[in-house]
Amino acid sequence: MAGRVDGKRILITGAGSGMGRAVARRLAKEGAKLTIFDLNAEAAADARDEIVSEGGMAIAASGNVVSREDVAAAVAAGVETYGGLDVMFAIAGIIKPMHFLDVTEENWRTTLDINGLGSLICQQEAAKQMISQGTGGKLVLTSSIAGRQGYPNFAAYCGSKFAVNALVQAAARGLAEHGITCNAFAPGVVDTPLWRKLDLDIMELGDTSAPGQAFAEFSGSILVGRPGTPEDVTGTALYLASEDSDYMTGQVVMIDGGMVLV
Ligand SMILES: NC(=O)c1ccc[n+]([C@@H]2O[C@H](COP(=O)([O-])OP(=O)(O)OC[C@H]3O[C@@H](n4cnc5c(N)ncnc54)[C@H](O)[C@@H]3O)[C@@H](O)[C@H]2O)c1
Repeated sequence: MAGRVDGKRILITGAGSGMGRAVARRLAKEGAKLTIFDLNAEAAADARDEIVSEGGMAIAASGNVVSREDVAAAVAAGVETYGGLDVMFAIAGIIKPMHFLDVTEENWRTTLDINGLGSLICQQEAAKQMISQGTGGKLVLTSSIAGRQGYPNFAAYCGSKFAVNALVQAAARGLAEHGITCNAFAPGVVDTPLWRKLDLDIMELGDTSAPGQAFAEFSGSILVGRPGTPEDVTGTALYLASEDSDYMTGQVVMIDGGMVLV
């Protein structure tokens, strides 16, 4: 039986861990030809090996999303192996919580750089390739509940995810003439290495007193009654990569179990 993204050539940033890796595994099972991109070269190679051992197609490329050179090289590696690029997922991201009054220029700049500028560079480098092919394509970014609401300890992170929403709309309008769509999925509280570190960082700020407390408190208002797993976002990601979403652009889809109702 044909997969839902059979033969689609897909680049995924942040695919060495958490949601990026889960999305990569799901897309591979649906027939995608993947380029796994991550700052952590070992994690990227490990994800590639796992996908290949599961019968999927993947190559690994390591680099930093804020380096145009690194991103362009990853696009080129995928094109060399598969002959083109159809879909780009920008999933790589970071968070470092700080009390609002303590937010530093460094915290703001680093977070906006990786989550914001990194997404823009990935959109641009992927779109340039798609335009040169003349085939159109799909760009998918990663927003957050923090792209819909401000949280007191996440000012820089919220700024970066509101920026992601802006990039979704700007790219949707700017690239429509080339047949390129841009959307994002926006997770809530998902059990990944990012949240496990965040939980400890919040404890270090003195706002919680035990490991797991911040994660549990944040998960308390989720309507479906539990925090997310990386696999929970893969159905939406698959939809956004597949032809089923061809008539959709400029949208940010909440996939948060019901935390932010917009
Ligand atoms: N976990 C959550 O609850 C949650 C909620 C909402 C949104 N998000 C967003 O989802 C995305 C994935 O998060 P996750 O929880 O799976 O995180 P994760 O830490 O498990 O995975 C992120 C991956 O991105 C890579 N990465 C980080 N900086 C990079 C850079 N500069 N260049 C290239 N790769 C880089 C890391 O090496 C890592 O493998 C992020 O954009 C995050 O902001 C997460």
